[in-house]
Amino acid sequence: MKFNALRLYREGETRVSRMVAQTLDDLDAGDVVIRAQYAAVNYKDARAVSGAGNVIKRFPCVPGIEVSGTVVSSTSPAWREGDAVTVQGGQEFGIRHDGAYAEFVRVPAAWVARIPDGFDAYDVVALGIGAYTSAVAVEELMRRGVTPDKGPIAVTGATGGCSSFAIDMLAALGYTVVASTGKTAEAAYLKSLAALLRTMKKGGVVCSFGNAAGETFTSSIYPFILRSVSLAGINANHPVATRGSAWTRMARGGDLRPRNLDKICFDIPFARLREHCDEVVAGTVRGRGVVRFGEPFRAS
Ligand SMILES: NC(=O)c1ccc[n+]([C@@H]2O[C@H](COP(=O)([O-])OP(=O)(O)OC[C@H]3O[C@@H](n4cnc5c(N)ncnc54)[C@H](OP(=O)(O)O)[C@@H]3O)[C@@H](O)[C@H]2O)c1
Repeated sequence: MKFNALRLYREGETRVSRMVAQTLDDLDAGDVVIRAQYAAVNYKDARAVSGAGNVIKRFPCVPGIEVSGTVVSSTSPAWREGDAVTVQGGQEFGIRHDGAYAEFVRVPAAWVARIPDGFDAYDVVALGIGAYTSAVAVEELMRRGVTPDKGPIAVTGATGGCSSFAIDMLAALGYTVVASTGKTAEAAYLKSLAALLRTMKKGGVVCSFGNAAGETFTSSIYPFILRSVSLAGINANHPVATRGSAWTRMARGGDLRPRNLDKICFDIPFARLREHCDEVVAGTVRGRGVVRFGEPFRAS
């Protein structure tokens, strides 16, 4: 059986991704074979596919860190043909082990999670790590006592996937949100983060999880020591089974369930994935793309 996969190759100093026809024997070993239904496109994935980033640690490799679909075969008693599952999170899938951007995916049984109650095959990746990251950040704000009456919340990179979800969640919880976008002035992005710190209220909290505009920023120390501003680093790279309340609160009916999933997320035909990833890296995309498998096309 042949199927389509997007595989990243290293050629000298450059990395190039190609749609290729594969068989299961071409994929990394694993106990469970999944027919892919949906895969998300995170910023990290876009950098991997476009060859812009150092995301992929082994070549050649299929990128993509989140997939959902149906089990077609399993040598593990934990999974049976027909199970609706997702694979997301961790340091291997789509990084050191063939990942999500293939019509069939093969992984160790321990990486597979059942699609939880309150999610389906689509929204488990449409929300996925993107919305979960925002939910972890929102929970952190609440844990540190930032309630809606304390003042507005600024969300930077506002048109991106994670930030769009953050805006949606915060607005639903009654916060006033000030959205900052670099679409018209990307050079000012880092400056705007520093400006943000200058205008933070006493006891304000900055939740930081992104690096799209760069890996460093400069700021005065004074907001931290004069107004007790705190900087909270957010790490959301957790497997589904360990995600806790930030994840379960996003299930249908939950208070962190984004209300505008259909406005934030949009379909990407698998055949257009490379082009889409180039656009994400260029910073011209709004929202979060989701690959919908199943459209027949020829590998090139
Ligand atoms: N810490 C964690 O666990 C974790 C988890 C998930 C994601 N992340 C990180 O969070 C960030 C957002 O991820 P995402 O998947 O939501 O990405 P995304 O959809 O591509 O959004 C990134 C947004 O950042 C802004 N941006 C500013 N400068 C940019 C530049 N030079 N190139 C591209 N975009 C730029 C853009 O928004 P505007 O044009 O509106 O400013 C863009 O839409 C990424 O850095 C990602 O690696 C971290």
